[in-house]
Amino acid sequence: MKILITGGAGFIGSALAKKLMDRGDKVVMIDNFNDYYDPQLKKDRINKFLKGYKFKLYKGDIRDKKLLERIFKKEKLDKVMHLAALAGVRNSLLDPMAYEEVNVRGTLNLLEMARKYKIKNFVYASSSSVYGNNKKQPFSETDSVDTPISPYAATKKATELLAHVYSHIYGLNTTGLRYFTVYGPWGRPDMALFLFADGISKGKPIKVFNRGKMSRNFTYVDDIVSGTIAVIDADLKCEIMNIGGDREETLMRYIEVLEENMGKKAKKKMMPMQPGDVPATVADIRKLRKLGWKPTTRIEEGIRNFVEWYRKYYKI
Ligand SMILES: NC(=O)c1ccc[n+]([C@@H]2O[C@H](COP(=O)([O-])OP(=O)(O)OC[C@H]3O[C@@H](n4cnc5c(N)ncnc54)[C@H](O)[C@@H]3O)[C@@H](O)[C@H]2O)c1
Repeated sequence: MKILITGGAGFIGSALAKKLMDRGDKVVMIDNFNDYYDPQLKKDRINKFLKGYKFKLYKGDIRDKKLLERIFKKEKLDKVMHLAALAGVRNSLLDPMAYEEVNVRGTLNLLEMARKYKIKNFVYASSSSVYGNNKKQPFSETDSVDTPISPYAATKKATELLAHVYSHIYGLNTTGLRYFTVYGPWGRPDMALFLFADGISKGKPIKVFNRGKMSRNFTYVDDIVSGTIAVIDADLKCEIMNIGGDREETLMRYIEVLEENMGKKAKKKMMPMQPGDVPATVADIRKLRKLGWKPTTRIEEGIRNFVEWYRKYYKI
């Protein structure tokens, strides 16, 4: 298969690209290498992490309709995995317009191309943040998600609605994946694990929000990749799927495991809850399990792998 990965220089995109190429798929990527976080890390994912692999990379923007048209026309793609997005929840409160432009309009541009060029399956990244402050846990795909609490979450919900339209009207196969807090080597510097590791290694205080009373289904990147591939292969008509780890872990345990692996205690600065954030996200993953997928990596192993990579990459 020939698969377009949008956001291919990103954390999840690069890991997915590697796995797809390992099994013999052809990969085309588009990424604009924006500076929301250090673009050098994105370049290194391409040049170091994906060293030796053969793929086509377009440096460009999913808002650029002409470029997209050129790519779809030239590349004769079978499937699309749409991961490019502005991804930070907190940052979306600072620049909501940009989130609308990239996450909503960018997705719409791609749906249009997918329709026009008869793409067999359009899989796209949604997020657990669409569940907002829902009280019922675990979060299930059938729960109402009409009350997002950040611009980011609202844009992700919007992409789900747009994908539904394209499935319904044009018969385009679409599946939205609601990712739950992904972590692992080559991860995102704006996410908690990275910020904590940075704080611990520099001996600086780390901010622990909601005074540590948080829990997550932390999901190791390899599990995210295997679940995503199961969905890319499944060609489902119009679905939404949770994809998360199978264990609820507290934030304090997450930090503890990191401290053990860094061999150093964190200086914890207890903070109140941040606007737009939610205290707990726990996934009901029965739907994706039916495709034969299961998450296998515990945080003890996942964080160990992360720290190993972090030390090597930053020469600590
Ligand atoms: N990492 C997580 O925990 C998590 C959780 C829920 C949802 N998601 C979603 O998964 C997807 C991938 O996330 P990630 O963690 O790999 O983030 P990431 O920021 O590492 O990857 C996104 C990539 O998209 C690129 N990009 C952004 N805007 C673009 C544009 N206009 N045109 C072209 N490229 C653009 C960025 O340069 C980046 O390389 C995103 O859609 C994100 O919202 C991630």
